[in-house]
Amino acid sequence: MYQVIARKYRPRSFAELIGQEHVKTTIENAISQRRIAHGYIFSGQRGTGKTTVARILARCLNCEQGPTITPCGVCASCSEISGGGSIDVIEIDAASNRGINEMRELRESVRFRPARDRYKIFIIDEAHQITNEAFNALLKTLEEPPEWVVFVMCTTESHKIPNTIASRCQQFSFRSVDYDIVYERARWICEQEGIEAEPEALAVITLAGEGSVRDSLSALDQAIACCGQKLEAAEVRMLLGRFSMQTLERVADALVDLDARRMLELIQEMERGGQNLQHFARELCRFFRNLLVTRVAGADSRLIAASANERQRLDTLAAKFSEEDLTRYLHLVLNLFQDLQTSLQPRMHLELGLVRLVHAGRLQSIEEILRGGALPSAGTPPPPPAPRSTPPVPQPPPSRPSGAGASAAFAPAPVAAGPVSAKVAPPPLPQPPAAPAPPAPKPGSGGSSEWRERLLDTLNEKGMTFIADAIEHSDVIDRGNELELVTTKIFAMAARSGDLQKVVDALAGRAMKVKVTISETAPVAAPSKPRGPEPDEMTKMVLDNPEVQRYRELFPGSEVRGVRNLKESS
Ligand SMILES: Nc1ncnc2c1ncn2[C@@H]1O[C@H](COP(=O)(O)OP(=O)(O)O)[C@@H](O)[C@H]1O
Ligand SMILES: [Mg+2]
Ligand SMILES: [Zn+2]
Repeated sequence: MYQVIARKYRPRSFAELIGQEHVKTTIENAISQRRIAHGYIFSGQRGTGKTTVARILARCLNCEQGPTITPCGVCASCSEISGGGSIDVIEIDAASNRGINEMRELRESVRFRPARDRYKIFIIDEAHQITNEAFNALLKTLEEPPEWVVFVMCTTESHKIPNTIASRCQQFSFRSVDYDIVYERARWICEQEGIEAEPEALAVITLAGEGSVRDSLSALDQAIACCGQKLEAAEVRMLLGRFSMQTLERVADALVDLDARRMLELIQEMERGGQNLQHFARELCRFFRNLLVTRVAGADSRLIAASANERQRLDTLAAKFSEEDLTRYLHLVLNLFQDLQTSLQPRMHLELGLVRLVHAGRLQSIEEILRGGALPSAGTPPPPPAPRSTPPVPQPPPSRPSGAGASAAFAPAPVAAGPVSAKVAPPPLPQPPAAPAPPAPKPGSGGSSEWRERLLDTLNEKGMTFIADAIEHSDVIDRGNELELVTTKIFAMAARSGDLQKVVDALAGRAMKVKVTISETAPVAAPSKPRGPEPDEMTKMVLDNPEVQRYRELFPGSEVRGVRNLKESS
């Protein structure tokens, strides 16, 4: 009879277990020191060894030679546990036996000593599925457990175990197992089975589990069923809906060269080859995610599941893009993936998506364009990104008051350094304890003073338009020693800036505290003195600009929230 690999190779001792070192060590110590708890909770991702360790623990405790951390494996107890048929080790699947009756029976059974072995061990799988009444019944047992009882509750959702139960148990969280370790296990199993597997095929099989050993081993089963005794990368990839690094690299290369045509050719090729385009989109997401992580955290980051060779290639590629580029690409391919899930025209969606990706590589910030910067044309690689080791470029404050096109769709776009150099404000000073302040008035509900006008005049005079915008969207309240600015979140950063503090101090002729209060509602900017051309005229001009129109086509549903004349303010 054919036994699936995952079951055939279920570890029978701690030595065979892979990963989960923390669980292994703690339990081994507990057994050596004879400090056995009555309740254990094993939580974590599926297929990472919870049931396996529960059975190993049972063997350790009930082996004729035990309790021991190296069960003999041949005594009646040891061999019965492996087969799942020991009288004193009771496995309950809570998914099917979740009711109070089962728990009552269990409580009855708990009262009797083990029939043959040292302990009576209850392994409850999917423990989170037990009903509340049943948990209560279980609790009664856990409160006063007979000395011979051990409960092991396995669950993928430990938060669903009531606190009253959890607090009486020792908890272990099982982690997803690292790529290298699962890979080695799969390789070893193939060796045992006399199966010849290409390293790339093993890599694909390992990745398919995403950290779950069982899922990787199931993929191995599938591959053997399909390909026989010889596992070739191309075949296994096709079977599991994976794509070669080479294919993905072609996408990245076309992006580097801003070559939409090569993208279309690639899609054509894939479709001819009968590849599943949805799987391809999923793979693209993973790919760009890995590139981004490589760029941010380095190629050897544990956050990436990939072979050494792939890491090397990711590293080379990631260096060709900036972090912003990669963020934007990931954003776009995630959307593409979602679109493809429901698309009746996957090919066209994919074509659109990949061409958009190329366009996104050409994007400049609107601010740059309005200042007359030219678009790079196809074939011109984007400017080289800053090397990873340089300190981060100071970020502009998140408040880009009425910044051109500051819509969500543009969020990942590079932000040109505005004419007003952006400075990150220092954290607000701690408030001295004081009498409770009067409740802050809602912005726009009065409370503005002549301070506001004076501030606006000065800020505009000095060309500090970012901050002026913030003031325009704030209420300014003079509280004697303190100037309170009531504003919304997006303007808070500008309102807290050190530059504003200097202007306030200068106007007051002394040190004056600026306090920023965040309010939900934005005050309507009170009309101030007209500056520059009428806003309507200006907006119209901008909306008519072909580059702006291209942006809007590229990001359907985006809107231009506001327009500011940078020439004037520089
Ligand atoms: N840590 C591990 N070490 C070795 N094999 C494992 C490990 N975790 C899972 N496996 C493999 O996966 C199968 C299922 O594991 P299991 O312990 O039932 O997972 P869980 O109970 O966490 O869902 C086992 O039979 C074994 O082949
Ligand atoms: Mg299990
Ligand atoms: Zn034994």
